[in-house]
Amino acid sequence: MSLTQSTPFQLNQWWADAVIYQIYPRSFSDADSNGVGDLQGVRRQLPYLEQLGVDAIWLSPFYLSPQADAGYDVADYRVVDPLFGDMNDFDGMLADAHSMGIRVIVDLVPNHTSDNHEWFREALTAAPGSEARERYMFRDGSGENGELPPNNWQSIFGGDAWTQVDDDQWYLHLFDTRQPDLNWENPEVREEMESVLRFWLDRGVDGFRIDVAHGLIKADGLPDWDTKSSMVEGSGNTKAPPYFDQDEVHEIYRSWNKVLSAYDGDRMLVAEAWVEPAERLFRYVRPDEMQQAFNFGFLLAGWDAARMASSVEESLEEAGKVRAPATWVLSNHDTVRHSTRYGLLDPTTFPKGISAANEQPDEDLGLARGRAAALTMLALPGSAYIYQGDELGLPEHTTLDASVRQDPAFLRTNGEEIGRDGCRVPIPWTADAPGYGFSAGAPDSVSPWLPQPDSFARYAADQQVGVEGSTHDLYRKALSVRAERKLGQGTLTWTNVHAPSDGVLSYRNGGLTVLVNTGTDAVELPQGAGVVLVSQPDAISNGSLQPNGAVWLV
Ligand code: NOJ
Repeated sequence: MSLTQSTPFQLNQWWADAVIYQIYPRSFSDADSNGVGDLQGVRRQLPYLEQLGVDAIWLSPFYLSPQADAGYDVADYRVVDPLFGDMNDFDGMLADAHSMGIRVIVDLVPNHTSDNHEWFREALTAAPGSEARERYMFRDGSGENGELPPNNWQSIFGGDAWTQVDDDQWYLHLFDTRQPDLNWENPEVREEMESVLRFWLDRGVDGFRIDVAHGLIKADGLPDWDTKSSMVEGSGNTKAPPYFDQDEVHEIYRSWNKVLSAYDGDRMLVAEAWVEPAERLFRYVRPDEMQQAFNFGFLLAGWDAARMASSVEESLEEAGKVRAPATWVLSNHDTVRHSTRYGLLDPTTFPKGISAANEQPDEDLGLARGRAAALTMLALPGSAYIYQGDELGLPEHTTLDASVRQDPAFLRTNGEEIGRDGCRVPIPWTADAPGYGFSAGAPDSVSPWLPQPDSFARYAADQQVGVEGSTHDLYRKALSVRAERKLGQGTLTWTNVHAPSDGVLSYRNGGLTVLVNTGTDAVELPQGAGVVLVSQPDAISNGSLQPNGAVWLV
């Protein structure tokens, strides 16, 4: 079977095959030496990203925020939080990125605001039924005297999805109490968010990553729903909860599509939508809606050839139907880093954080598989996302102390859900500097906002850049071959020499044969094959690809 990444009208768009690097600003690089990363830090590291060969960066939120959910609680969508710098820093960073040919995507959080947003503060002092309350999801309670929440919805972060205010009404928050959901039936909310889009488009951004894109519209009457939903991995339930993936949400994206097309036609939207099955997910990228949607199915396939193959096949098929690019991602700021997941006894599991009390990964095995997974992903047709530190093979911090954890999911579940802090630990730039060079020149009294594990010394960028055989070197070479051979625009053909059920994934694209071994037996390389890239020097021995390795052959 041969599956093409083919969308005549989109293939000439930059995002169809772009490699997009996710920056989590608070943990990337700290220029003002206060222990938290910032926009000047991003600017300073742009040459590093240019040299790596990425096409675009996506920045997680840097807007004014009390940081109750690390910036996904926005108090003002048009202001840079002083923690990250100011608008001059943003403009300078954007101009520098553009001068290097790097596009910039920013995060838009439309499902909820911060409780510090002026709209919500106004809503709290306004009366039930007022215009100010109508911007959010205020309801009377149930029970005899309204003392119970309006329905049984649970917050994604744990606990009730409703909080009661002084006059006894309740407001909905699918996430933290400090993240009230907006009322998307209200035209004022729609107008405001379109104006926010224009604000950043006018500044020159190339696109937006849309947070919880499937959550904006809630089903009429807010009917009860008995299951708690999760991020990324969804609910495992093919029937959507009444607060996700409602058909009416697509109207919003049709209208945003028009907002973008009033610009130069080169701007894009990528949906963060935990929607199953794939057919429903790809509705978000129909020709008059968004341009990309994250494909979490591939991320969740784990280190398993059969599961990877079926996810790849399904994604390319569904993408082809709506003529949109497929996307691929292995890790982000909400998941345990893939090189750690792959080092667990079951490398297809998806824990919600890891603590010292849990199974600890086999770090070397996880890294070997992580590198092989990168080669698997980077030769696929479509657009690929790299989470900061993936290119260094960074593992999760799996032994963070409870006292330093900040994820609201950890706090709201009393630690039952370990949470996402372990994948958000500041990047190590220099092996022998304090904080591994995260906060350049910081006094000893300043340490990174989350502690780094000792192992970060050997992953530091200065130990890897320009070092033959390092993970960074592998990524840089893979991106260069990918660009040269236009793999992102190519056609995937399964080679059928090996069956994924034997733990072997094998496909052709752009004149390359990609061979991935997730099984337990070595796999013989085809006669006369030349090696273009191999995931680790020892992944090939005696003319065979060893377990946990991947290779690009010609
Ligand atoms: C998804 C974001 O990726 C996550 O970090 C955040 O906590 C939730 N949306 C809520 O905004």
